[in-house]
Amino acid sequence: MGAEETLKALQAIGFRELYLRKKLSTPSEVSDEKSAKLESHFKSFANCTNCPLHEQRTQVVFGDGNPNSPVVFVGEAPGEEEDKQGKPFVGRAGKYLNKKLKEVLGLEREEVYISNVCKCRPPANRKPTPKEIKACFPYLRKEIEIISPKVICCLGATAGEGVLGKSLPITRVRGQTFPYPYNYKVKVLLTYHPAYILRNPRADKDFTQDMEKLAQLLGL
Ligand code: URA
Repeated sequence: MGAEETLKALQAIGFRELYLRKKLSTPSEVSDEKSAKLESHFKSFANCTNCPLHEQRTQVVFGDGNPNSPVVFVGEAPGEEEDKQGKPFVGRAGKYLNKKLKEVLGLEREEVYISNVCKCRPPANRKPTPKEIKACFPYLRKEIEIISPKVICCLGATAGEGVLGKSLPITRVRGQTFPYPYNYKVKVLLTYHPAYILRNPRADKDFTQDMEKLAQLLGL
């Protein structure tokens, strides 16, 4: 059904007003340029051995999604499924994130960009060490520079530690924004890691609140 027919059909069943959400897209030349830059950036560290995490990885897990996204979501590090598939947030935590993106922001996963502070899976999913976070952060920093988002949404304390360069108590600072140290115009929003919410379902309402704040920051 075309746009005109759809509108007529909606009118026929009583709709008088329609609110349209802005699509998160930019001209295709911009998109192509950013994709090319990301691809060449990824090639530059596909064989990275800067920290011990390279020893047990299956592959480096690069960021994924829309290079024009106004928001970059940042997680901690790949888990088992991500290490296998080579994509961030494709396991249970990712499914929860996708669901919240759709429910609260009205966005598909493909419309946003998702990455991690550490690009290789830590053995047995342990938390990356401060040294590993520091060794890997320049890769994320470059991704962020290419994408040039309005907001960086840190999923959990480790992501916050990587992006802000300091460790903060996530239960106290979640829902708050901080300036991104490498570009003060970019806001860093801190929230819980989806895996934490799967273990503590009562935190779901806080996460919803934080996603509502994100929608506001993005003007959605
Ligand atoms: N948890 C993360 O922090 N990142 C992923 O990619 C998957 C799970």
